[in-house]
Amino acid sequence: MKILGIETSCDETAVAVVENGNRVIKNVIFSQIDLHAQTGGVVPEVAAREHILKIIPALEQIDLEEIDAIAVTQGPGLISSLLTGTVTASTLGLVLGKPVIPVNHIHGHIYANWLERSEIEFPVLILTVSGGHNELILMRGHGDFEVIGETLDDAAGEAFDKVSRMLGLGYPGGPAISRAAENGNPSRYDLPRAWLKKGSFDFSFSGLKSAVLRIVQAEMELFPLAGINEQVSFFGSASLCHDVNKNDMAASFQEAATDVLSKKLAMAAEKFDAKEVHLAGGVSANGRLRELVQERVQGRTLRFPKKIEYCTDNAAMIAAAGYFLQEKNAGRKNVSAKASF
Ligand code: KG4
Ligand code: ZN
Repeated sequence: MKILGIETSCDETAVAVVENGNRVIKNVIFSQIDLHAQTGGVVPEVAAREHILKIIPALEQIDLEEIDAIAVTQGPGLISSLLTGTVTASTLGLVLGKPVIPVNHIHGHIYANWLERSEIEFPVLILTVSGGHNELILMRGHGDFEVIGETLDDAAGEAFDKVSRMLGLGYPGGPAISRAAENGNPSRYDLPRAWLKKGSFDFSFSGLKSAVLRIVQAEMELFPLAGINEQVSFFGSASLCHDVNKNDMAASFQEAATDVLSKKLAMAAEKFDAKEVHLAGGVSANGRLRELVQERVQGRTLRFPKKIEYCTDNAAMIAAAGYFLQEKNAGRKNVSAKASF
């Protein structure tokens, strides 16, 4: 079965065709990164307008004759961006006479690990970590998701983006911080780790973000403590930071964030005796996170999306999720993650 995936929840206009939930036939991604780099972050109105301009050119690269169903991100995301995808999917469904499958964006990220892969064994413990979400999910079967931990404030990706902005390293922050961290000393700044109460699988990154801001401010000796948003908007996309060693701060921040993410993931995998451990979402592209998880999760299969473009927002993952969730809802008992190629 070939499914057309459509993803417009934030700042990528993406369409893809995936066969049987794992074979990627076409994967089109129009990224808005250059546009949002000018403002140092996503402006929803700007993103929405860009989706409207790009969705038809993206679809023109798809052979609509060959598809059996349409899967579309229904949320969570920016409502004005989601509208382009959902209206397009409904219209195509009506015109082509094909079913439309609504997909939760986070479930989409989870199914990115099924792309071009076979033989996944349940239960799977997943760390899904992006700009907008940060969860630990226990998956016992297709469509069977239990959230066992989530962020109480910011998602890790959001913290990467904000810290990058403070350091003047650019947008999106994740890749910029990783690059700077390669030449930095991760022990230079002693940054806090929010473990929360004993045994908790929840996360918190706002304290870490504020700690970086305080050090940056102290070294500048310019401003008394104030909210990060106030500071960032005051400076627009310019850097707050002159005197802090940016590479050392990037490395120290990355170490603190990935330390907490990987330890909680390893603890949860142990507690729930997961057969496999998966990383998903934009931050799963982070090399240090992958390294730490590899070290800490021994004896279980570790997977992250096969390609970097499957980590960040894309429509192939939405098509894969649509396939497995629709198969499950159709009551077919023999749904298997086995590849058909
Ligand atoms: O999944 P995604 O494309 O969009 C959301 O659903 O939010 O994730 C984007 C997030 C951004 O915050 C970006 O800074 C982060 O993923 N990211 C990274 C890396 N690449 C992207 N964070 C850390 N290290 C990376 N290499
Ligand atoms: Zn995402």
